[in-house]
Amino acid sequence: MNENQRLESTQVTPSDKKSEKDYSKYFQTVYMPPSLKDAKKRGKEDVKYHNDFKIDEKFRGMGDGRKFYIRTYGCQMNEHDTEVMAGIFLSLGYEITDTVDDAHVILLNTCAIRENAENKVFGELGHLKALKRERPDLLIGVCGCMSQEESVVNKILQKHQHVDMIFGTHNIHRLPHILSEAYLSKEMVIEVWSKEGDVIENLPKVRKGNIKAWVNIMYGCDKFCTYCIVPYTRGKERSRRPEDIIQEVRHLAAQGYKEITLLGQNVNAYGKDFEDMKYGLGDLMDEIRKIDVARIRFTTSHPRDFDDYLIEVLAKGGNLVDHIHLPVQSGSSEVLKIMARKYDRERYMDLVRKIKEAIPNASLTTDIIVGFPNETEEQFEETMSLYREVEFDSAYTFIYSPREGTPAAKMQDNVPMEVKKDRLQRLNALVNEISAKKLKEYEGKVVEVLVEGESKNNPDVLAGYTRKNKLVNFKASKSVIGQLVKVKVLEAKTWTLNGEMVEEAAEVR
Ligand code: 5AD
Ligand code: SF4
Repeated sequence: MNENQRLESTQVTPSDKKSEKDYSKYFQTVYMPPSLKDAKKRGKEDVKYHNDFKIDEKFRGMGDGRKFYIRTYGCQMNEHDTEVMAGIFLSLGYEITDTVDDAHVILLNTCAIRENAENKVFGELGHLKALKRERPDLLIGVCGCMSQEESVVNKILQKHQHVDMIFGTHNIHRLPHILSEAYLSKEMVIEVWSKEGDVIENLPKVRKGNIKAWVNIMYGCDKFCTYCIVPYTRGKERSRRPEDIIQEVRHLAAQGYKEITLLGQNVNAYGKDFEDMKYGLGDLMDEIRKIDVARIRFTTSHPRDFDDYLIEVLAKGGNLVDHIHLPVQSGSSEVLKIMARKYDRERYMDLVRKIKEAIPNASLTTDIIVGFPNETEEQFEETMSLYREVEFDSAYTFIYSPREGTPAAKMQDNVPMEVKKDRLQRLNALVNEISAKKLKEYEGKVVEVLVEGESKNNPDVLAGYTRKNKLVNFKASKSVIGQLVKVKVLEAKTWTLNGEMVEEAAEVR
């Protein structure tokens, strides 16, 4: 951590909560709003690696007799941050609970990627007001990406004064201090660093389940796509050292985990910030594939940084799965340019071609935004035609949502919401059609399934995922949970496969 980042947290007393103007004096030390100009000035020199996290003796036992509850919104990165915070809570003596009813501390780990994600959090904060009134000793905290936005902090100060703590994505390791201050002062504790954090290696973690695990390989994003808030909320790209990642994956393999997902906002930029060596995602994957763990995935890719060496390594197969999530966002080169994606349709299609040549069975999935400011019908049709051409296995599709502080939010937009909704519907119909067609091809075939547990809808049925991430439901003894089994597909639905377990198989897809 840099000295200028080692800032004390600020307490805001109720009498201070008057107007937005008044808050600025608090933000000067702990908080700066997202600014494109400042964020783009970020340098590479400041990141420091730490291995010295420890719970201060004075905080030990803070959680004795107390329970914590964390509700997580958004992406896998947030899910994994929750695992770290849970680890810190347990080290402090707290117990975990899965309901707000008996929790002594409630944290909302928030997502800022689209407006509806934020609305859900504000809705939940509204619900929690009654609980806080009944139990004034309850601590309520807001953390995650929304806490990194000035407008959100202002809104909480104005409308949700029952919140006790707000802390940002770079402040997770400060949780013991933040909790302690919240207990002592009963005033709102705000600790949000707009400067990105360093890399802290030895934070405790409590993983959700013992079959699949997430491993961060890098933090932050320097891509600055014009619609996206992530480079502001998650800070600049910082890669973990390969030896630390490899050690963590080895450790998980030894503990019996079957599937590891390597995480980052833009994993293809892995290693670009190393000054002492040339080492990228391809190099890392080439080492990790030698570790005895059944499946290795990574997410999320950026097409611009996806290099030939990575393709070459992925083509070696083994535990490197043949499923690649490759967000395209739009099929129109003109729109991609305004989005600042730094590739065009042709370049994306070239990459797809290269991947399919090297890994003929590869399954591709994607993210798409419709209704970007001023998107024309023709440009939208280019997205539809690209989707057909690539034949993605599935896609996450979104209507563009303006995010305050990003360049796109300042663009005039002539596309009415009904048109955006109509485009989303048409795209989703295509996504469903192709997904159903692709799944149909599985009927009669045998797939390898990593069994995760009972199906959410039917406890008599087990559920798990194939290497290509298809959800499979089948009947079998619960003793196979956590194992890799072979399942013959009997019926394909739009999104899932139904089948029966088989002992041996000639061909496994
Ligand atoms: N509006 C809509 N979708 C967005 N995404 C990111 N920012 C926005 C936004 N402002 C989508 C992108 C990204 C995915 C995680 O969320 O498709 O890949
Ligand atoms: Fe956002 Fe991904 Fe673009 Fe980074 S690469 S700015 S996380 S959409």
